[in-house]
Amino acid sequence: MRRLLVTGGAGFIGSNFAHYVLRETDLDVTVLDKLTYAGHEASLAGLPPERFELVVGDIADSELVDKLTGSHDAVIHFAAESHNDNSLHDPRPFIDTNIIGTFTLLEAARRHDTRFHHISTDEVYGDLELDDPSKFTESTPYNPSSPYSATKAGSDLLVRAWVRSFGVQATLSNCSNNYGPRQHVEKFIPRQITNLIDGIKPKLYGEGLNVRDWIHADDHSSAVLRIVEAGEVGETYLIGADGEVDNKTVVESILRLMGHDAGDYEHVKDRAGHDMRYAIDSSKLRTELGWAPSFTDFDSGLAATIDWYASNEAWWRPQKAATEAKYTELGH
Ligand code: NAD
Ligand code: DAU
Repeated sequence: MRRLLVTGGAGFIGSNFAHYVLRETDLDVTVLDKLTYAGHEASLAGLPPERFELVVGDIADSELVDKLTGSHDAVIHFAAESHNDNSLHDPRPFIDTNIIGTFTLLEAARRHDTRFHHISTDEVYGDLELDDPSKFTESTPYNPSSPYSATKAGSDLLVRAWVRSFGVQATLSNCSNNYGPRQHVEKFIPRQITNLIDGIKPKLYGEGLNVRDWIHADDHSSAVLRIVEAGEVGETYLIGADGEVDNKTVVESILRLMGHDAGDYEHVKDRAGHDMRYAIDSSKLRTELGWAPSFTDFDSGLAATIDWYASNEAWWRPQKAATEAKYTELGH
């Protein structure tokens, strides 16, 4: 394997993956990205031009996707509409990109017999109760709650069908909540950090008791690379780093790390259908493929993320006002 086609590589996790691959391996990377509101060319700055190329285009453009898939050794498919709140407001782009886009890529992978890795989310499994000791595993039944997670569940099932019916050489991974540099300011952690930089109080949906299972984006990248190298075709691998924390505790940590009183936040309108808790059991990935996360201390990963936003205002500033205006309209 020499050339990877990375869809959605100008987004948060895809750009961190492109940086990771170009830093840690000798593979070449082509990013295919539509540069929606969530994609930033600046996230790809500094990558070596002799090993890296950005193609601006839509994963639902079958002619473009066919040409690119035929000239690469593997497709790593990150591109998606990714934000739950947006999907509750306007679901249509989620159908177009997450369903039709994934279908378009699968058809190209089928025509060219190209290795395919599908990036998905733990949200396809719905949620767990706070007092439930169990975690999601690869055999947990699908039960998505939002239009976003329903389209991700649909895309996973398309991949599985293309493996079984057409012999496409695909693997899948479902990961928990990522944090780290280059995440859009609409998402929970960057929103609170940039609010504090702007003198605005952090905003907690509802009571703030909802639990997310945080993993650093670089650990997501190392897991995906490991699956692409050694995963078994047709298999699904759950990716998680045992990082369960409730939202209130995350906000208190951000406040403390940024030198504020830990109680200086406000409660805002809850999300409709808000999933209570996600928790990943990643034993299969760890035992079968020998993967382990490197970022095991959430507070130090959070502190480094805060430093990144404090030092890269030019990256996030252009999105901040419009994002907050949209949240104001939605009551969040
Ligand atoms: P993101 O919104 O930051 O980035 C998505 C990228 O996809 C953007 O660069 C955007 O321009 C691009 N894109 C959107 N529609 C496109 C289209 N039609 N054609 C080409 N490019 C298009 O998302 P993210 O948080 O980096 O998530 C990446 C992937 O990881 C998604 O598949 C998401 O479901 C999955 N995932 C995310 C998390 C998380 O915590 N953020 C966790 C698990 C899985
Ligand atoms: O679990 C994986 C998923 O994680 C990915 O599939 C999604 O693409 C990604 O966006 C993320 O989904 P969440 O909905 O969990 O992430 P978000 O950052 O939107 O919110 C995290 C939690 O914080 C959630 O419980 C809602 C809450 N929240 C969010 C915002 C934006 C707040 O309390 N306040 C906020 O301002």
